[in-house]
Amino acid sequence: MDQFSMAGKTVVITGASSGFGHHFAGVLAAAGANVVLGARRIDKVAARVAEINDRGDVALGLELDVRDAESTAQFLDAAETAFGPIDVLVNNAGVEAGAKTYLDTEEEDWDYVLDTNLKAAWRLCKLYTERVQINQQAGGNIVNIASITAYRTIKGQFSYAVSKAALVKMTEVIALEGAKYRVRANAIAPGYILTDVSRLLLESERSESFVKGIPMRRYGEFKDLDGPLLLLCSDASSYMTGSTIVVDGGHICSEL
Ligand SMILES: NC(=O)c1ccc[n+]([C@@H]2O[C@H](COP(=O)([O-])OP(=O)(O)OC[C@H]3O[C@@H](n4cnc5c(N)ncnc54)[C@H](OP(=O)(O)O)[C@@H]3O)[C@@H](O)[C@H]2O)c1
Repeated sequence: MDQFSMAGKTVVITGASSGFGHHFAGVLAAAGANVVLGARRIDKVAARVAEINDRGDVALGLELDVRDAESTAQFLDAAETAFGPIDVLVNNAGVEAGAKTYLDTEEEDWDYVLDTNLKAAWRLCKLYTERVQINQQAGGNIVNIASITAYRTIKGQFSYAVSKAALVKMTEVIALEGAKYRVRANAIAPGYILTDVSRLLLESERSESFVKGIPMRRYGEFKDLDGPLLLLCSDASSYMTGSTIVVDGGHICSEL
């Protein structure tokens, strides 16, 4: 359907050196978007960009540390210089602090996780909305990558879960306040998919019993996120703002 086409759109993706962001870049480029990939591990970003460009799609890779305000502004500037106004911002960069409860969590864990998962996402939303205004764009579109830990509780993911719950709330507040600037903001809350962020749990002894709590009895795969991603990034979701789409095989509906 044309509504889901990303042709001619420019999408910037944070945290695109591995995992979801790496995958999203390929999906959005295949749908016709010019994609801009940012992360700290520039070698991995460059390798992904080469793969996408080699198959005839369009990608640009840039070094980005979302915790650094200057790096973030430079990232958006360089994306605009290459492709013009940014149609979609995907706030995907995220970290966890290891298996830590609220008691085990140290100040530096809290700062690392909250600065990356929450403060950086806010800063990107702010800088992006300013650009939408300066460029007098017809609209702006933000997609935040949250997590089901925003909705259910799990021991040992303290700062991570708190950051993701706040990211969902941030999405709702930006939907409210950003409408005035024609900026939409939605989120995806994925369940568990094996990447570096989830490896600790999914490769632990607990994994076998944990998966039994998922009604669909399996962990997610990257491709499970493609539909929701294309919906939120494209004009197919033009009347959606403030929504968080849960993609988890029913995990948050598990029996108490
Ligand atoms: N895997 C899951 O089960 C799951 C479930 C729900 C939500 N999520 C969320 O999905 C997102 C992607 O995570 P993932 O699972 O794909 O794990 P991942 O493979 O570890 O990807 C995390 C990405 O974030 C980037 N990143 C971290 N700190 C950064 C910084 N300061 N500046 C720029 N980029 C930074 C990393 O790149 P560099 O290290 O190269 O900078 C990497 O590309 C995260 O927000 C995560 O919370 C994951």
